[in-house]
Amino acid sequence: MSSTIEPVLDPFALARELSGKQLIDGQLVASRSGRTFDVVNPATQETVGQAAWGDEADVAAAVAAAVKAQKEWARRPARERGRLVAECGRILDAHKEEIARLVALETGKALRTESRVEAGVLSDAFTFFGGLAPEMKGETVPFNPAMLTMTVREPIGVVGAIIPWNVPLLLMALKIAPAMVAGNAVVVKSAEEAPFAVLRACQLMQTVLPPGLLNLLSGMGPECGAPLVAHPKVGKVTFTGSVETGKIVYKTAADKLIPVTLELGGKSPMIVMGDADVDKAVAGAVAGMRFTRQGQSCTASSRMYVHADVHDDFVAKLKAKVDAMVMGDPLDEATDIGAIVSRQQFDKVRTYIRIGEESPGATVLKCSAMPADPKLGKGLFVQPALLVDIPRDSAPAREEIFGPVACIFKFTEYEDAIQAANDTEYGLAATIWTRDLKTAMDAVHRLEAGFVQVNQNLVVQPNLSYGGVKASGLGKEATLESMLEHFTHKKTIIINMG
Ligand code: NAI
Ligand code: MG
Repeated sequence: MSSTIEPVLDPFALARELSGKQLIDGQLVASRSGRTFDVVNPATQETVGQAAWGDEADVAAAVAAAVKAQKEWARRPARERGRLVAECGRILDAHKEEIARLVALETGKALRTESRVEAGVLSDAFTFFGGLAPEMKGETVPFNPAMLTMTVREPIGVVGAIIPWNVPLLLMALKIAPAMVAGNAVVVKSAEEAPFAVLRACQLMQTVLPPGLLNLLSGMGPECGAPLVAHPKVGKVTFTGSVETGKIVYKTAADKLIPVTLELGGKSPMIVMGDADVDKAVAGAVAGMRFTRQGQSCTASSRMYVHADVHDDFVAKLKAKVDAMVMGDPLDEATDIGAIVSRQQFDKVRTYIRIGEESPGATVLKCSAMPADPKLGKGLFVQPALLVDIPRDSAPAREEIFGPVACIFKFTEYEDAIQAANDTEYGLAATIWTRDLKTAMDAVHRLEAGFVQVNQNLVVQPNLSYGGVKASGLGKEATLESMLEHFTHKKTIIINMG
């Protein structure tokens, strides 16, 4: 692959250029079967390219390349691996605009509010983990004065990384950067809906990485993801996606006795106390619900428990804020909210809104306006919906919707809000909004979630441990500790000097 690649700012041209390709052993290649599947622009439902339809044969080729590359890579000094991974970040940063446009085209995520933000933070993951390379340290153990006893961190070998479509670049980065710094080679399986931007990113990284170290396959979950998990030479799987698929991955991994990291779904609560700053809470609700990402976030604050004293004010202000957001072409700079990623998700989201409309006692407030542009007439646009007073045991209130749908419940007793917040199979994130420190401190300890915030709603950032409890997953990501725990094993060495 050439050492410099010119940016292609027209995402339609770039999608065509990458069509039919996967990345194996440093080369952009077609699938072994020659088959492809369509990649669709959700804003118009027009086909913008074809992705390589990878299957077991492609998995075999990619894993073989990774096995070969990993041996040499692991022998390099950790600092050098770190330097090259950090260099990947610099290259991606230089290409962030083309990557942003491409991910906007394939996912429907608005360029200004989402796609450019995702592409912009990408390099940080590589810089952060690259800088942690010298931390691949072991220990000396005071075991016996006549023996030198120590531990070293060794890479696992080949890591399989399965990623979703909602934040494909960043979620890939948080897996591959620590895996490579730790001395592993990686085979990534991209999501069906979003194969191109991650392929471009991996192609760009080939200019600094040795061939075969980072491979990327596209294809269907059962045909390409499943054989990757099952491959005997894959020693670790890191997965982000649905609970249902996470369980399948976990079962296959159990048969092979290999470790897994699972970042799964959520139904994250947001508690707004009667003393909260309502304007701040409303801004937090807009950010927390990821309305600019059509709500397609595993940490979406999709259950809002609002104290009766501020409930009506909160709902009115939230509706007004979302109403003011512009839904439209993801590639248009004026757009705040883009399109739902796929027909399947579109149907799923609309079903939940319909259930809300049919639920006794519930009020459904539809926000923002549908795009007026006739070019977008077939686009997968859904008006963000607030399901107010929806029964707590209804499907929209309990299940992950992964769309722009927030359930809002009124409460009067704090204890009731805490219990309701925890009454879920999930445990990814939670927020509480209050001016009272005692209440805040009580809530942060009692909320069952991997990530709890008070009076704010931040997103994933390297160095902040990220991951859930309960059905939201196994293992945390984004930290030094996660790099060491998930991508290395500890070897104990004893040297008898007697
Ligand atoms: P999914 O979990 O089926 O897909 C995620 C990834 O897993 C994709 O790359 C897919 O190809 C792969 N996959 C699917 N079946 C597989 C198998 N048998 N073996 C190995 N890999 C497999 O999620 P999907 O179908 O995209 O969305 C369904 C629901 O999952 C969404 O509505 C949402 O509720 C949830 N979801 C959660 C995400 C999160 O960030 N936690 C991300 C995407 C979806
Ligand atoms: Mg699926």
